[in-house]
Amino acid sequence: MKTIHKLAAIAALSLLILLIGLAAQCSNAETPTPVPPTQAPAPTKAPEPTKVPEPTKAPEPTETPVPTKVPEPTKLPEAAPPQIPHPTEGLDNCLLCHDPAGDVKPAPAAHKDYTLELCTTCHQPAASGATIPQIPHALEGQDDCLLCHDPAGEIKPAPATHKTFTIQQCTACHQPAASQATVPTIPHPTDGLDDCLLCHDPAGDVKPAPAAHKDYTLELCTTCHQPAASGATVSQIPHALEGQEDCLLCHDPAGEIKPAPATHKTFTVQQCMSCHKPQQ
Ligand code: HEC
Ligand code: HEC
Ligand code: HEC
Ligand code: HEC
Ligand code: HEC
Ligand code: HEC
Ligand code: HEC
Ligand code: HEC
Repeated sequence: MKTIHKLAAIAALSLLILLIGLAAQCSNAETPTPVPPTQAPAPTKAPEPTKVPEPTKAPEPTETPVPTKVPEPTKLPEAAPPQIPHPTEGLDNCLLCHDPAGDVKPAPAAHKDYTLELCTTCHQPAASGATIPQIPHALEGQDDCLLCHDPAGEIKPAPATHKTFTIQQCTACHQPAASQATVPTIPHPTDGLDDCLLCHDPAGDVKPAPAAHKDYTLELCTTCHQPAASGATVSQIPHALEGQEDCLLCHDPAGEIKPAPATHKTFTVQQCMSCHKPQQ
């Protein structure tokens, strides 16, 4: 008797589960039917059934209940899509930087379902990439851009928007300026003159470097400035040195015998021979 009851109970239960299953299948089968016609114009959206209930996604252009959702941007004078201020070549993976959930330069939250193919149908590259500053300095030997342009750095930090950019991306956007200020070579020997800032402090008065140099540290100087091929621009001493140790007696830049250039005005006698060598 107990087994019969048990069997009956199991049979009833199985029937119930079967019925629920069928019912569920029926209700599942119902939902897709309205989908194909409505989603037909936008096939990329089709596999996402969750989109169906959202009235804002209604693709019928005739209804236009929410004007901002109309796919033709030309009909929306108010919300004109901003132009792309940077080049797109080599930057086609827009979402790398514009993922609405990302943190480089997130697109608005309303963009969350846009696929990559759609981006440039609305956003046109700006007529000129003029908003991207050009690189004013030479690039040779300057490959480690972040050494000086780390957004968290102090020399010449790039904007905060740059914080996830890699060095490989820099020149995709930034082009070298047509006329780059050529980096002057060092006309004098560097041996024994390694404390460049002693004479080139931008706030100093010997031979101040440009004001733009104010945050440069000593280690950086020779990454840009190379010693001249020959130290030939430093004149050799044509006369005997014996008894002539007080160079400034005759070469005081403010003197009259054979004044050294004005750039020399703070040079000490001890420094003279580190640049000027006796004639061979
Ligand atoms: C390597 C990162 C990166 C990639 C890839 C990239 N962008 Fe950008 N984009 C930026 C940054 C950073 C800015 C903001 C520049 C600024 O601060 O002025 C920007 C700005 C924009 C703007 C202007 C936003 C505004 O507020 O005016 C648009 C539009 C844009 N990008 C679209 C695109 C499209 C479309 C693509 C793909 C073809 C793309 N971007 C690829 C980084 C990127
Ligand atoms: C249907 C047209 C349309 C498509 C498609 C579209 N956008 Fe936009 N986008 C806009 C409009 C309009 C705005 C400005 C209004 C706003 O902020 O919502 C905008 C704003 C932006 C901004 C500026 C964000 C800011 O803070 O200033 C970025 C970046 C952007 N879109 C990137 C993208 C990317 C990347 C894609 C592709 C994945 C894309 N857009 C696809 C219309 C579009
Ligand atoms: C040794 C330091 C240093 C390195 C390395 C360096 N830069 Fe610069 N950069 C500067 C300084 C300083 C300036 C400011 C102008 C000047 O004095 O030349 C500047 C200016 C710029 C500017 C113009 C900014 C503006 O406001 O107009 C851009 C863009 C730039 N650099 C990009 C780069 C890129 C890309 C790289 C790597 C290929 C790079 N830099 C490597 C020091 C450096
Ligand atoms: C997606 C394009 C894009 C990429 C990639 C990019 N930049 Fe920029 N960068 C810009 C734009 C646009 C500006 C000017 C607008 C601004 O200040 O946000 C700018 C500004 C700068 C400036 C000027 C800062 C100032 O104060 O004037 C420096 C320096 C710079 N970038 C360096 C870099 C370096 C280094 C990299 C690589 C790590 C890089 N950029 C990658 C678009 C880009
Ligand atoms: C004792 C002082 C002194 C020291 C130290 C010194 N310099 Fe100079 N430097 C000068 C003077 C003076 C001139 C200008 C000579 C002239 O008028 O032609 C000069 C010229 C230069 C110039 C050429 C500027 C131009 O307008 O063409 C560069 C670049 C330079 N020095 C870089 C350096 C660097 C880099 C260091 C460190 C390794 C350094 N100097 C160390 C005194 C010094
Ligand atoms: C990013 C590259 C860069 C770095 C780093 C750099 N310079 Fe320069 N320097 C330049 C350029 C470019 C010029 C010429 C353009 C100008 O006048 O701005 C220049 C000019 C100078 C001049 C000539 C000033 C004049 O009146 O003719 C001196 C001196 C100088 N730099 C010294 C230094 C010293 C010292 C350091 C290190 C503390 C240094 N520089 C680091 C790029 C650099
Ligand atoms: C008693 C005066 C006197 C003293 C002291 C003296 N000089 Fe001279 N120096 C001259 C005269 C005059 C000339 C130019 C005539 C010549 O070529 O002999 C000259 C030429 C030079 C020149 C070459 C300038 C050019 O136009 O090419 C250099 C460099 C020089 N001296 C460096 C020194 C140094 C360094 C000292 C210290 C060790 C020194 N002199 C001490 C008188 C002096
Ligand atoms: C940093 C290197 C440096 C040091 C230190 C230096 N000189 Fe010079 N000196 C030069 C250079 C470079 C020139 C040639 C370019 C110029 O005229 O500015 C020069 C030129 C001269 C001239 C030739 C002026 C002419 O009319 O042709 C004299 C004289 C001279 N120096 C004397 C001195 C004396 C004296 C000292 C020490 C007090 C000294 N120099 C220290 C680099 C140096």
